[in-house]
Amino acid sequence: MTAIETNPIARTVASTQSEMTEIILPNDTNTLGNLLGGRLMHFIDVTGAMAAYRHSRTNVVTAAMDHIDFIRPVHLGDLVTLKSSVNRAFSTSMEVGVKVWAENTRTGCVVHVASAYLVFVAIDDQGRRRQVPELITETPNEVRRHADALLRREHREAESARRKEARHAATAQEDAAAIQP
Ligand SMILES: CC(C)(COP(=O)(O)OP(=O)(O)OC[C@H]1O[C@@H](n2cnc3c(N)ncnc32)[C@H](O)[C@@H]1OP(=O)(O)O)[C@@H](O)C(=O)NCCC(=O)NCCS
Repeated sequence: MTAIETNPIARTVASTQSEMTEIILPNDTNTLGNLLGGRLMHFIDVTGAMAAYRHSRTNVVTAAMDHIDFIRPVHLGDLVTLKSSVNRAFSTSMEVGVKVWAENTRTGCVVHVASAYLVFVAIDDQGRRRQVPELITETPNEVRRHADALLRREHREAESARRKEARHAATAQEDAAAIQP
């Protein structure tokens, strides 16, 4: 593979698509025999990172897991399949979508159990943030997800600014209370 193929200016969504399947064992479950939410979040993080690695071909860190819906419980013994792809590449960050299905091994019934959006940031070997290739969308669904990712980024940034402001206001109140005789 040539240098331009390993680090091109742009990559397709299809080239980032990743998949992982896990069998749910007793260690993964709560007292009801259902998959723990935290364990599922770990699977989601790992599968999301695979797509981010395939797009950036460098180190990535999870900056945010900003939306996750647990739609149905996953049971002990189920096969869980996670699929991910990059929705949008920004400058040094990428939004990745992850969708999760559970398969009952006895009946073969497959149900959608969770979806999540994550943001990964590309980092070079010295720990500096690194520009990522542009993303090429090829299907109507990819175009829709690409547009939605921008809206989510705007929403995320507005929410982050709101939280920062609330923290400042709370600190100012605590400081004022501390200096009162
Ligand atoms: C993620 C991290 C690299 C961002 O560093 P930073 O100095 O805040 O970076 P900047 O503010 O310059 O932002 C860099 C990019 O990250 C994005 N970003 C930063 N924080 C983000 C957040 N909370 N959510 C979404 N995107 C975020 C910015 O939008 C920007 O994207 P762009 O370059 O594509 O426009 C840094 O906060 C970090 O290392 N966090 C710990 C990561 C980690 O350990 N993850 C595992 C968690 S358990």
